[in-house]
Amino acid sequence: LNKEGFRNEPMRDFSQAPVRAHFREAIATVRSRLGMRYPLVIGGEEIETQETIVSVNPSRPDEVVGVVARATAEDAEAALRAAEAAGPGWAKLPASERAKYLFALAEQMRKWRDHLAGWMVFEVGKNWREADGDVCEAIDFCEYYAREMLRLDTPQRLGSLPGELNLMFYQPRGVAAVIAPWNFPLAILCGMTVAAAVTGNTVIMKPAEQSSVIAAKLMALTREAAFPPGVINYLPGLGEEVGEHLVQSPKTHLIAFTGSMDVGLEILRKAAHTDPRAQQHVKKVVCEMGGKNAIIVDADADLDEAVQGVLQAAFGFQGQKCSACSRAIVHAACYEEFKTRLVEATRSLILGAADDPAHAIGPVVDAAARDKIRGYIDYAKAEETLLIERETPADGYFVGPTIFEVRDPASRLMQEEIFGPVLALIKVDDFGQALDVANGTRFALTGGVYSRSPLNIDRARREFRVGNLYINQKCTGALVYRQPFGGFKMSGVGAKAGGPDYLVQFMEPRSMTENT
Ligand code: SER
Repeated sequence: LNKEGFRNEPMRDFSQAPVRAHFREAIATVRSRLGMRYPLVIGGEEIETQETIVSVNPSRPDEVVGVVARATAEDAEAALRAAEAAGPGWAKLPASERAKYLFALAEQMRKWRDHLAGWMVFEVGKNWREADGDVCEAIDFCEYYAREMLRLDTPQRLGSLPGELNLMFYQPRGVAAVIAPWNFPLAILCGMTVAAAVTGNTVIMKPAEQSSVIAAKLMALTREAAFPPGVINYLPGLGEEVGEHLVQSPKTHLIAFTGSMDVGLEILRKAAHTDPRAQQHVKKVVCEMGGKNAIIVDADADLDEAVQGVLQAAFGFQGQKCSACSRAIVHAACYEEFKTRLVEATRSLILGAADDPAHAIGPVVDAAARDKIRGYIDYAKAEETLLIERETPADGYFVGPTIFEVRDPASRLMQEEIFGPVLALIKVDDFGQALDVANGTRFALTGGVYSRSPLNIDRARREFRVGNLYINQKCTGALVYRQPFGGFKMSGVGAKAGGPDYLVQFMEPRSMTENT
C-alpha cells in the first residue's frame, strides 16, 4: 500500500492491430451476452422484481442490452436498512483496509477492461475511444481515492504551543446515496461510489435508467473485489421512485449526485428538509450539475489546433458531456476562416453505430434525448443562421452534429444546456468581449482558450471564471489528479472530483485538543 505513485491508466492505442483485435473480440463477447437479466443487490442478496427496466442499444433500439430489475420504494427502504446495518463494521475498519478494496476493484476493472468498454458501446453508444477512456477514469478514481484516503487518515497535528496537543481528523458520515448519470456510466458512478466507501460510508448506487446494465457490471466487480455485503448496494429504478425515496429518507446522510441542474436543485431543496422525529443530522449533498461551456478562439490562435479542439469538445460522445463545448467565441480577425474550416471538419465526421470503430459519431442516448435536442435545432432554425446539420443514419437515436451562427449572447442557444451535438458560433471584436460573452451564463464548469498571446492567456486565467480552464487544449476529458474536475455557479456545489478536496466532503471533520 502506497499513497505515492499515482499515475493515470494509459488508454488503449487503437493504432495497433492486436489492440484492435482484442477489443473486437470483447465486443463480440458482449454481443453474445446481450439480453440477460440483472437483479437488485441489497445486503449481498440478489433480488428479482416484478417490474423491469429494458435497456436497449441506442445505435439499434430493437437490440435489448439487458433486462434490469426495477426497485420500488420498499426495495429502497430495504437497501437503506442493509447499508445502515453494514455501516458500523465498515466504518471501524482502518482506512488502509478500506483502501485495499479499491485497489482490488481497480484490478478487477483492468482484468475486464475491454468488456466493460464493450458494454458501454452497446448500452449508451460510446465509440471505442470514449468507452475506453471511461474505464480508464473509473480505474483512476479507485487508485487515486485509495491513496487520498491513506493521506487523510493520518491525523493532522496543528500548532506548536508547549503543553497542548491539537489533532484534526475525519469520521464517516453514514449511509450514502449515489445518484449517477448515464453519460459516464462507469467512471462517474464508480468515482462517487468508491469515494463514499473508502471514507467509511456505506453506499446505495442508484444508476441512471439508461445505463443500469453497466452499473450491474460494476456491482458484480465490487463483489469480485470482496467488498463486504451491504457496503455497496445496487438499486436500479426510476429517479422519481427510488431516487426520490433515497433523497427524502432520514436514514440517508450523504447524497452524491451528478446530473442535470434541474434535478440537482431539486435534490438540494429536498435534502434540506430534516425530519425532527427521525433525524439527528443535516444531509450533505455533493452535487455536480450542468455546463454551457465556451471555447474562445483568439485572433492569433493556431487554427489547426482550435478547429480540432472545438470539434472534439463539441461533438465527442455526441456532445453529451457536462464539459462539452457548446459555444465557440471567435475573434473577428479569424472568424471567417475558422468558420469555414470548422464547418468542413464537421462535414467530414462519420456517423453510425457505435460498435464500428470507423464511426466517430454515434447515437444519443435515447429517444427522449433525440427529441429534445431536435426540438432545440428546430427552434434555432427559426431564430439563428444554420451553418451545417449533418444527415443521420435511418436506424437508431441519431442527431447530426449541428452548428448555428448566433449574434445575441443572450439567445437560448447561448444560455441553455442542450446536452447534444449542437454548437453555437459567435463573432466578437476583441478578447475582452470574448471573456464577457464566455462568462455571461449561469454556469461555470469548463472553458477553453486558443491563443498565442501570453497577455491574453494570463488574463483568461484571472477573468475566465470556470472550474476547469484549458489553454490551447479542448475543454473535455479532465484527467483524475491532474485536472480535478467540477465547477461552481449553477454547475455545482461539490468540490472537484479527482482532486485533493474531494474526499473530505464525504466525511465529518473533528478536532481534539489535549492539555498535556
Ligand atoms: N469529466 C468529464 C470531462 O472532463 C466530464 O464529466 O470531460
